[in-house]
Amino acid sequence: MKNFIFHSLSNIIDPPLHLSVDPMHVFKGNLAPVEEMEPTNCQVIEGQLPLSLNGVYIRNGPNPQFQARRALHLFEGDGMLHSLRLSNGLATYCNRYVKTHKYMLERDAGFPAIPNMLSGFYGLLDVLRFLMVMKRIITGQLGIKHGIGVANTSLALISERWDFDKKLLYNMTAHPKVDMDTKETFAFSWSFAFPHLTFFRIDEKGVKHKEVPIFSMRRPSIIHDFAITKRFAIFHETQLIFSLAKMLMGRGAPLVYERDKSTRIGVISRYAKCDSVIKWFEVPRFNVAHIINAWENGVLDEIPKTTGLVKIDLETRNEVGKRFYGPGCFGGEPLFVRRNSAEDVVCDEDEGYVMTYVHNEHTDESVFLLMDAKSPEFTTIAAIKLPRRVPYGFHGLFLTN
Ligand SMILES: [Fe+2]
Repeated sequence: MKNFIFHSLSNIIDPPLHLSVDPMHVFKGNLAPVEEMEPTNCQVIEGQLPLSLNGVYIRNGPNPQFQARRALHLFEGDGMLHSLRLSNGLATYCNRYVKTHKYMLERDAGFPAIPNMLSGFYGLLDVLRFLMVMKRIITGQLGIKHGIGVANTSLALISERWDFDKKLLYNMTAHPKVDMDTKETFAFSWSFAFPHLTFFRIDEKGVKHKEVPIFSMRRPSIIHDFAITKRFAIFHETQLIFSLAKMLMGRGAPLVYERDKSTRIGVISRYAKCDSVIKWFEVPRFNVAHIINAWENGVLDEIPKTTGLVKIDLETRNEVGKRFYGPGCFGGEPLFVRRNSAEDVVCDEDEGYVMTYVHNEHTDESVFLLMDAKSPEFTTIAAIKLPRRVPYGFHGLFLTN
């Protein structure tokens, strides 16, 4: 009886973590964090790097600065950039933490000071710890006005923390959309407080325009990405709901899957001044994380471990290319880079390279793979052995200047 009471009490105060947020379980294997490394020359182990391909491939991903004390979701690791500079046939690897306000604050403190909201609170101890942090924030002991984001998802070519002349005071999506014709950027902010979704536009001069709160999205449905067409912005309301109550009761991750909730797609003019013009369409079970493309007249979500890649002709809807990385080998998000970066050069749309980091779980080694995007087999143009294991991550980009 004594034992039963003791177990029940400790389950309320400090219950065991769910595997999905147990840092010992999540951040293991090739998701275990690595240290920063100075620029290091790499060996080309297959093929040759094209002399004409000069630039830097940079990929972001989660890499916790400290061993978490409690629950830590994969999405909550501090952002780390893994870069590979390609120059005159040579490759140089380097990796650095994204120096976010949270990273610096915790580095100075020497411990993980900010509670992890996404993984949620498990039991009374977590809730108490959260309330103590809230008290420190309210009394000004802990400054968070510069944000508590981990910046681990995506990359944009902006030289510093950018608040658009103090016009963006909240977080913004990791997937802003740029219209290459008009040079405008469209983005949104998401919040668990109402209004949950706010849409805005940054014009070609980098000036952020007035935000349009989407009041017709009544619940904090998780939205990670969206799409634009020539005239519209398109949002999708999923069945994944943020539940503050669940979190504050110490019942785990604040996300709840509501099977009976309707899923909708909202279409709004890119230049809408208010949300009265948004049109919602019910689309049963439309739960997606990422959108590839949209046009006026598609969809894949990603999994953290990718065994290969396929190429699909969107006009004929046929699979026209395929490659697997091999047994025990997993790649990241494949990135397409045009062979000729000059915009005025006319060439086939698949004339170029597909690049990604690939990890071999048998040898625990990572390579950078440069493939021919045009060949149906995605033949290797060059494989670069990396001087260290590169953990799996999220999104990347290629900069040519
Ligand atoms: Fe994403």
